[in-house]
Amino acid sequence: MNFDFLAFKRDADNCFIKLDLPLIIIFYMTIAIRPAKKNDIPLVLGLLYELGRPKPQKDSVLDSFRTLVKKQISDSDKTIFVAESNDVTVVGMVSVIFLSRLNQIQYEMYIPELIVTEKYRNQGIGTSLINTCIFLAKEKKCHKIRLESGIQRKEAHKFYEKLGFESKSLSFTKNLD
Ligand SMILES: CC(C)(COP(=O)(O)OP(=O)(O)OC[C@H]1O[C@@H](n2cnc3c(N)ncnc32)[C@H](O)[C@@H]1OP(=O)(O)O)[C@@H](O)C(=O)NCCC(=O)NCCS
Repeated sequence: MNFDFLAFKRDADNCFIKLDLPLIIIFYMTIAIRPAKKNDIPLVLGLLYELGRPKPQKDSVLDSFRTLVKKQISDSDKTIFVAESNDVTVVGMVSVIFLSRLNQIQYEMYIPELIVTEKYRNQGIGTSLINTCIFLAKEKKCHKIRLESGIQRKEAHKFYEKLGFESKSLSFTKNLD
């Protein structure tokens, strides 16, 4: 299935301006892709837990997580898009960071998180979230989009390949906790 997706552009004040109607029609359900707002923070955190990110065990840690999501929404070099269904529930999200490299004049778009909640998968929502990122990356004249995906996420790998992403490097991690 191919759906139109919402297109945004940042204005001189670094605010998003809507360029298009953000609608994906899935039977009776309508999905809109839009930048996240502060009110979305609890739902964004819920999606991150579903993605397998750690759940806070203390209120102070939850407060820090909320602050980090708020910063991701408000910083000019970062953003979050959410997919919202017509019953005003956030059902998916993608986060974006614009990175500078020493030998590249143009930014690289890095996507640290992408998730569609289980019940809503395989209906084109993930594709629309990524297409929105691609649109924004082109607007920002990025030279590429990069992301990492756990070796175990075989379905996600197929999803990315279908969207034209290539597996080009290995990622090495050293845990320090
Ligand atoms: C990966 C993910 C974001 C895709 O979102 P989605 O809304 O389900 O994806 P779409 O419906 O847009 O799928 C587009 C294509 O990807 C492929 N795809 C998606 N899910 C798939 C699955 N489980 N198995 C095989 N292929 C799959 C399909 O081929 C589909 O193509 P089609 O339209 O021809 O059927 C979603 O499955 C998800 O949240 N997974 C769990 C979290 C995760 O792995 N996130 C990525 C972290 S790197």
